[in-house]
Order: sequence, then C-alpha cells, then structure tokens
Amino acid sequence: MAENLKKFKIPSGMKDILSAEAYLWQEAEDKAKAAFNLYGYKPIRTPLLEEEGLFNRSLGNETEIVKKQMFVIRHSEDSYVLRPEATAGVVRAYIENNLDKTDSFVKLYYIGPMFRAERPQKGRLRQFHHIGAEALGSNSPYLDSEIISLIKYILNALGISGYELKLNSLGCPEDKQKLSRMLQDRLKDETEKLCPDCKERLNRNVFRVLDCKNENCKQVVSRLSLTPEDYLCQECSEHFSAVKKNLDKLNINYTLSPNLVRGLDYYNRTIFEISHKDLGAQDALGAGGRYDNLIFELGGPKSGAVGFALGIERLLLVAGCRPHGHAGQTKVFVVTLGEEAKKEGFQLLDKLREADIASDMDYENKSLKGQMRKANDLGVKFTILIGDEELKKQSLLLKDMASGAQEEISFNNFIGEIKKRL
Ligand code: HAM
Repeated sequence: MAENLKKFKIPSGMKDILSAEAYLWQEAEDKAKAAFNLYGYKPIRTPLLEEEGLFNRSLGNETEIVKKQMFVIRHSEDSYVLRPEATAGVVRAYIENNLDKTDSFVKLYYIGPMFRAERPQKGRLRQFHHIGAEALGSNSPYLDSEIISLIKYILNALGISGYELKLNSLGCPEDKQKLSRMLQDRLKDETEKLCPDCKERLNRNVFRVLDCKNENCKQVVSRLSLTPEDYLCQECSEHFSAVKKNLDKLNINYTLSPNLVRGLDYYNRTIFEISHKDLGAQDALGAGGRYDNLIFELGGPKSGAVGFALGIERLLLVAGCRPHGHAGQTKVFVVTLGEEAKKEGFQLLDKLREADIASDMDYENKSLKGQMRKANDLGVKFTILIGDEELKKQSLLLKDMASGAQEEISFNNFIGEIKKRL
C-alpha cells in the first residue's frame, strides 16, 4: 500500500451511514412511507440543487439559513444552492409543473438530504435528512390538525414518546406586522440587555430575537408575556381555535407557546415545533406550519399550504433502537469444495436468485469451516453443500442450520424443495 498517499476524510458535519445503521434508516423510512400512504400523501422528488434566489425569496434574507448557512455552487453565470430545506423546492415544483391548475390541492411527501453550513455538534450536521410533507392548495384548519396527527402517528410507529408539541399562531401578514410592532415596542426598553446581534435584529427582523440562544436575550424574551389574542384578527383567531379544537378531539396534547415564531420567514398562522427532552441543546425533532403566501410569492395562485419536516438523525437518536445485524435477510448460503464445485455452485446461486430466494456464497476462497462460519454470521436458514461427490451425483446436500439435519436433493428440483422448506 502506498504510504505517502493522502487519505481522504469525510467533509465536516457529514456522516457515513454504514450497513447496520442504514438498516435502521430503512426501517424508519419504510414506517414513514406507510404512514404517508395511510394519510393520502403521495411522493415527490425534487432536485438537491435549486436556484439561490428561491431560498432568498422564500426563507427570507434575514434568516440564519440564508445569511450564513447556504452551500452556494456557482457554475458559469448561474448560482445554485444545495437545498437547506425542501418546502421552497416543493412549492416551486407545484407551480412549475402546473399542479395548481391540474390538481389544485395536493398532498405530497419527501424523504431526503438537506444541507446547512452550521457548526456541527450532537444532533446538528451539515448534511442531515428530512422526512417531510406538504399539503398545497388549501386553507382548511383540518389540514393543520391532520399534519400534526400524521407526525404523532410516525413518532408512535418509531416507538418515540416523551416529546412535546409546542403550538402557536402568527396570524395573517397584517397580524404578523402587528406582532412585529408589539415586539419592537415591548423590547424597546430592554435594548441594553440584548446581545449585539439582537440589537440589530430589533429593527430588521424582530422575530429572530425570540429564537436567540443568548442567555440574557432568553431572559428578556421570557418576560414578554405575549398572547395571540393581542394580535390575531377575528378570522385568524377562528382558524387557530379550529386547529386547537380538532387536536383536542383527536386527543393530541400540545403546549401553547406564544414565544414560538420559527426561524423561517414564510410561515403564517399555525406554527409548531416538536421537541424531545433527551436531545440536549438541539432539542427539535421536527417542526412546521402554514405558509399561505408562499405559493403566491413564488408566482403561483393565492392559495394556502401547510407542512412539516422531521430530522431523521434526531428521530433515530431518541427512537431507542441500536444498530443490529440484519439477520435473516439472506436465506440460503452456497458452500462449495473445490473449483469445479464452485462453478456449479455459482450457477445454482443464480437459479436461487431467479426464484427470488435471497442467497449468497463465498468469494474469498475460504475453507469449509470459514464458509460455514460466514453462513452462521449471516443467520441463513439453509446451506447448500457441493463437493466432488455431489457433482458426480448431480445432487446437493441441504443443511438446515437450526436443526443441523442434512438431506440429499437433486440439482433438478432443488428450488422446489427449498421453497417447500422456507
Ligand atoms: P426546520 O425547523 O428548519 O424546518 O427543520 C426541521 C427539522 O430538521 C428540525 O426540527 C430538526 O429536527 C432537523 N434539522 C434542522 N437542521 C438540522 C441540522 N443542521 N442537523 C440535523 N437536523 C436538523 C424546515 O426545514 C421546514 N422546511 C419544515 C416545514 C415543512 N415547514 C413547512 N413545511
């Protein structure tokens, strides 16, 4: 091996998901897909790259993501971004593919990687993964409750408990303006206690003060005593009441959190966050809400939308499942003695696979003992043994790994015989 050749490292904040763990991911994704099916959400796949401007316009120029966390890729005259989230791309696709005209209302889901250039720490990566859904083309408060019920179903399917659902409403754009002025007003006398960033945020985007992690800022925010009744108009108040009533009817617990504003500008009306006590500093398992103006702001019709995204890495941190070998996947292992037997075994292996029987063999010229150990490690149900004797008789020895019993079976009908026993 060349000693002085540079060994490459994975980029900071990214992770290789090796097989044992990747099986857990597949399980989680399969459970989420089953839940989406159950709730009538259909899959959509949008590209990992989108035009940079899409995120500036939808997430907002003052958000942390747009200001500091976008991986920008410049190519000739164009400027793309590795998607930091999928909502903006899904809305772009909805408009660009005329789904607003053909279907008008659609319920879509996605599972895939997102990229944010954040400082990596436990539960915070630069490439992380979302399980998310968007219901586009409706203002109905039933959808807000349905989305939350869907999240509850997914968390339950993953065996996750001990989470908290925080709920708030930002109201319509006019209410949001009112809330913004109210916040500026209430924070005016406390300006000196705020961190330098928040002093600037006060005028540019006061909502960001509410997400600030600085201890002094958090204390100031905790004394704000906000309540949605102070700024919600009649219609938005009724919408929020309907969402809460439906959640009550579905027996879904929530905590009203007037200081919850979310770090993305596209939100209005219902917003929510799911946190988990075992996650530490990065305690959000997932989040979402309404974004009734985004479709219009990206060039589509005036129609409402609501969605959510759960972070897969964080789900798996609290799901309590540990990587395990995926025993039992491979059903049959072909063990051969000698080169001729190997050639025959390779053909039998092909027949097994044609018959949809998950099977494998040794490729490293292992001894008989080594091959049997491998079969054991894989947790197969049967091994097929072929040596010179078997080649002569055109038959194989089928060994039941649990009982140790062996039977001689002709090459002619071995598939049928194995199928009977599986
Ligand atoms: P978000 O709150 O930015 O929302 O992300 C949703 C979830 O993704 C977070 O609660 C967290 O679990 C996970 N997450 C975010 N950043 C990281 C990171 N750096 N490392 C690991 N996990 C992370 C959205 O992205 C919205 N698009 C959700 C939405 C969909 N709203 C409406 N529709």
